Amino acid sequence: RGLAVGIDIGGTKVLGGIVDVDGTILATCRKSTPGRDVAAVENTLAAVVAELVDSRDIVALGIGAAGWIDGTGSTVMFSPHLAWRNEPLRESLQARLGRPVLVENDANAAAWAESRFGAGTGESRMLCLTLGTGIGGGIVMDGRIERGRFGAAGEFGHMVIVPDGHRCECGNRGCLEQYASGNALGREARELARAGSPMVHEIVRRVDGDVDAITGQVVAEAALDDDPGARNLFADVGAWLGLGLANLAAAYDPGRFVIGGGVSATGELLLEPTRQSFARNLTGRGYRPAAGVVHAQLGPEAGLVGAADLARRAVTDA
Ligand code: BGC
Ligand code: NA
Ligand code: ZN
Repeated sequence: RGLAVGIDIGGTKVLGGIVDVDGTILATCRKSTPGRDVAAVENTLAAVVAELVDSRDIVALGIGAAGWIDGTGSTVMFSPHLAWRNEPLRESLQARLGRPVLVENDANAAAWAESRFGAGTGESRMLCLTLGTGIGGGIVMDGRIERGRFGAAGEFGHMVIVPDGHRCECGNRGCLEQYASGNALGREARELARAGSPMVHEIVRRVDGDVDAITGQVVAEAALDDDPGARNLFADVGAWLGLGLANLAAAYDPGRFVIGGGVSATGELLLEPTRQSFARNLTGRGYRPAAGVVHAQLGPEAGLVGAADLARRAVTDA
């Protein structure tokens, strides 16, 4: 009773799970995202659901999708990392899977899960940022997700922090996610490698000299193994992220920032420089309380847990 399926679909992977009313995961299923092909992505979602559901009674399906979702939880309006453009995902999945479907932004779903079951509990005003392929954001205020007038609130990754900066997958330039995401880490390390910088010699060694194989993940592994060059790259990411948080604090004045996503798995290596930069950039610092900056608690499953919980609530009103 009360079981729901949640699926988190991002630029690299599709992660699904069966979740109970307490946010506990009973089973999971993982596949890679089949590139920028709308039909293939939908087939993958259906396959994940089929593998998970078997004989269990599932009340609803929640999809956490990396993109702008309309205010009714139906249509993916736009996605920088996937092929969706005004895609009526809810309708097609409901027809195909025969169960009520809710579509939510992936980071909103993760923020919801952290707020109900993780690092956001006890805080009525929290902002969550997920650092993965891109940067996602979620605003949870007084027990509800703030979605904005058109559903697209919380796109923190696309706040412009460097005018005329790096080109972003959204089409603009200088977005935060071009400086503080997993993709950004990988790109920066590759650029340094091509320039012959000794700062990345350990990172280059780890990919046997194949510079194209350097990803954010490779940099994170080197940083966790104490490589000073990789740690410097994390310090840079933290500096940018802290600046982003300071801007968000000026707008929202939250009590807590919860930082999740794959890049944050390095823990204090990221959060320490982030807090320093946040404190340095916070407007009115010293004369106002500053929000805590904490690590997310639910790991890579946060998005699917949140999507499932939201979908279940939508049909059971609980
Ligand atoms: C997208 C967001 C998404 C985030 C994390 C961003 O590029 O614009 O909608 O939440 O990536 O996947
Ligand atoms: Na969001
Ligand atoms: Zn952008």
